[in-house]
Amino acid sequence: MDRIICKNYDEVSLLGAAMVAKVVKSNPRAVLGLATGSTPVGMYKRLVEMHKRDGLDFSMIRTFNLDEYYPIKKANDQSYDYFMRDNLFSHINIKQENIHLPNGECADPAAECAAYEAMLNQAGGVDIQVLGIGVNGHIGFNEPAEELQLPTHLTGLTASTIEANARFFESIEQVPTQALTMGMGTIMKARSILLLITGENKAPVVKKLFDRVVTTEVPASFLTLHPDVTVLLDEAAASLL
Ligand code: GLP
Repeated sequence: MDRIICKNYDEVSLLGAAMVAKVVKSNPRAVLGLATGSTPVGMYKRLVEMHKRDGLDFSMIRTFNLDEYYPIKKANDQSYDYFMRDNLFSHINIKQENIHLPNGECADPAAECAAYEAMLNQAGGVDIQVLGIGVNGHIGFNEPAEELQLPTHLTGLTASTIEANARFFESIEQVPTQALTMGMGTIMKARSILLLITGENKAPVVKKLFDRVVTTEVPASFLTLHPDVTVLLDEAAASLL
């Protein structure tokens, strides 16, 4: 895992956007694996700027998001579908049919997950997977557990994640308790991975991530086994290293 420590959130966002833009420029049909959460918001802003100012072209780019709450309506402003449109897709020239997120409105989650995985494979797999990390070490919604699932699947959220995500909802009761998420195997198949970590509250999990062990208690620790991972950290997140 390559690690780059940046001064602050803005630098992480700028460098992250530059890395994604490089993939977009070198392969106009690239498949981007995208993440939600507060961390990548600044990076998406920079990508929108690069599109508007420099004409960064997304017309043939395909995207697959990591996860979505379940069940949730796409129109709910806390759905990841809404988040992606609001932060990125509505501001760039991506084609609607090239955007993929697990469908939080589906009736049959198992069938939805299998179809999502198949669609991703058919698209040729992810060229660059953007990731954030939960304070408990989750990636996507692969939560710490005795066993981690390989393919895209329906999962329950831990109390810690429900609590962490409550800040986006009116009350903690409104946070969905389940989600559809790419599995550890899906994520590990990406050709390259860009992990963004910012803020002091992530410093303890960053320390665990660089502990030189893999454990299902810190799902992100499995990324150390991947041949092409770049971790972009700000100084606050790196403060315990
Ligand atoms: C969420 C998402 C993750 C995200 C993480 C961290 O629950 N499922 O994909 O990386 O939590 O979010 P934040 O960037 O807001 O700290």
